Formats: sequence, structure tokens, C-alpha cells
Amino acid sequence: MKYNFSNIKKAKKILDKKDCIAIPTETVYGLAANAYSDKAVKKIFKLKKRPHFNPLIVHYLDLEDLIKDCEINHNFIKLYKKFSPGPITYILNLKKNSKISKIVTNKQNTLAVRFPKHLITRKLLKDLDYPLAAPSANISTGVSSVCYRDVNDEFGKKLKFILDGGRSSIGLESTIISLVNKPKILRLGGLSLSKIKKVLNKKLIFKINSAKILSPGQMKLHYSPGLPIRLNVKKPKEKEAFILLKKNKKFTKNIYYLSKNGDLKEAAKNLYFTLRKIKKDKFDSIAVEKIRNLGIGKTINDRLLRASKFNG
Ligand code: TXA
Ligand code: MG
Repeated sequence: MKYNFSNIKKAKKILDKKDCIAIPTETVYGLAANAYSDKAVKKIFKLKKRPHFNPLIVHYLDLEDLIKDCEINHNFIKLYKKFSPGPITYILNLKKNSKISKIVTNKQNTLAVRFPKHLITRKLLKDLDYPLAAPSANISTGVSSVCYRDVNDEFGKKLKFILDGGRSSIGLESTIISLVNKPKILRLGGLSLSKIKKVLNKKLIFKINSAKILSPGQMKLHYSPGLPIRLNVKKPKEKEAFILLKKNKKFTKNIYYLSKNGDLKEAAKNLYFTLRKIKKDKFDSIAVEKIRNLGIGKTINDRLLRASKFNG
């Protein structure tokens, strides 16, 4: 998608006034505001109905901007060089003199940071003199937004502006890695773990299913379209919407395909889009066939599992 300079100018104008807008990223759309302003970030929590204890990710253009706020280390540099801008979020220590609003971090001394790749958002970040705090652009616990229409369905007139950047190319949130101590994966995401492992050249610690909730992306119900979901289904019930990874002539009724030929990247891109579509098509429940637990398939399964915790 091409730049629309007048839209970027409009986005900047609203953000400069300490208001919220939605921004496109390659993972999912974000609900963005000036990360240095208490007033601005408070609006994100309110709009999203997000509990105050759940900290936000801050989006930077590049390393030069980041080092004003965060301590960096060897592991960070290795990963940054290889994967940023892109679908990976790093947890780092905040600098003592950082200007990040305490509301962003819930007064913790660590910060989640990401460098989005989407060109429109990069152009916007270049024009701003502050970074953008941005959680996914959806009401808390719901499905993230992957296009303009999704964001509009979530917030309607309550949101002043949506910067349109087309469909998010990855369609699932970033992978979160804490680099404060030993590298630790906190959330599976758009970047596969095998790629991260190769660069760090060591085993990764996982805190994804830990009983102690470090990161509320780890909370049980999340990414839910608000409908019951059954997983690993071979044969759907009469009135269920049935999600298949690829075309299968055996099934003809109420079918939704995530990809043409079983490509997992394509399936990831279509997952949230499909969940929203099924809701709009007025189904009461969803069944999903087994999805290969490989590469980004692991992230798809993680999201489906959390969405399947819906009970009501
Ligand atoms: O792809 C993405 O990461 C998208 C786009 C918009 O960048 N953002 C996103 O944000 O998914 P959100 O807020 O929906 O999820 C961020 C997760 C939350 O689960 C939050 O708890 C965790 O990151 N998080 C934020 N700051 C943290 C910190 N300092 N330590 C541990 N986890 C943190
Ligand atoms: Mg989210």
C-alpha cells in the first residue's frame, strides 16, 4: 500500500494533541498514543477497557530513538540486527531518566519495545518526536484487528482516526522475548522460535504457560471472538462453523478455509479475519480441524487454545 501523506499528517496532528488513533502494523493494528504522555496513554486503557496492571508495548522507529529510554545488551543487538523492524517485541530495562509514562509500564522498571515494519507507520514514527505506546486495537480479551474495518467494528465513533494501511501481512501478534536476564519467551508470535534460537545460539526459556502471570497475554481467555470454539475436530456438528486449514472436498457445509493449499503463513494471516467473519455470519459456535504444530502453526494453536477457553 502506498503512502497517503495527508493521512499521515492528520494522524500526527491528532497524536500531537495527546489523542489516540489506530495504526497499521505488519502483525496487527495498534491503538496508539504518545508514550511520553500520561494523558494520552490513559485514553488507550479507557478505550480498550484494559486493566491498568497490563503494560503496553512501545513502538520505536529505530535503535537511535530507543536508547533514550532503554538499556540495551548483547542479545538485544544480535536479535535487533537480524529481525527488526519486524514481528518481535523485546522486554528491556528502562533507563532511570526515561520519559516513558509510568502508566505504560504500571510503574515496573522494564519496557516492552517493538520496531514495526509497516511503511506507513514507519513514516509516521519518523515524523513524531515521541514513541508510540500501542496495544492491539481491540477491546480487551477479544480478537485483534487486522484491517481498517475490524478496528472500526471494535471502536466505531469512539476512535478519532484510523490510519489505513491495508490488511496486516502477518495477521498474528509479535513474538515477545524478555532480554532482562537470560532470554525468555513470554508469548509465541509472528516470528518463529527456531529463527530466534539460531541467532542466540542457545536454548530458550519459556514462561508461556507459567502459573504466575508475567504477561497478561498469557491470561487464559484471550483472542476470543465471543463464541465457543472446539479444537482438533474431525467432524463438525450440524450448525457449527467449521474452520479448515485447506480445501477438503469431504466437507461442504458452513466451511471456512484458512489457506488454499495448507500454507501456515497464509493461515496465520487469515485466522483473526476468519474468526470475525464467522461471528458476522451469525454462527453460535466454531469447530476447528487440527492444525500442524510447526513454525507459525504453533502460534495459531496457541491463539486458538486461549480463544477456546470461552465459556459464556
Ligand atoms: O504485534 C504486536 O505485538 C501488537 C502490535 C500492535 O504491535 N501489539 C500487541 O500488544 O499485541 P498487546 O498489548 O495486545 O500485547 C502486548 C503484551 C501484553 O500481553 C502485555 O502484558 C505484554 O505484552 N507486556 C507489555 N509490557 C510488558 C513487560 N514490561 N513485561 C512483560 N510483558 C509485557
Ligand atoms: Mg492484545
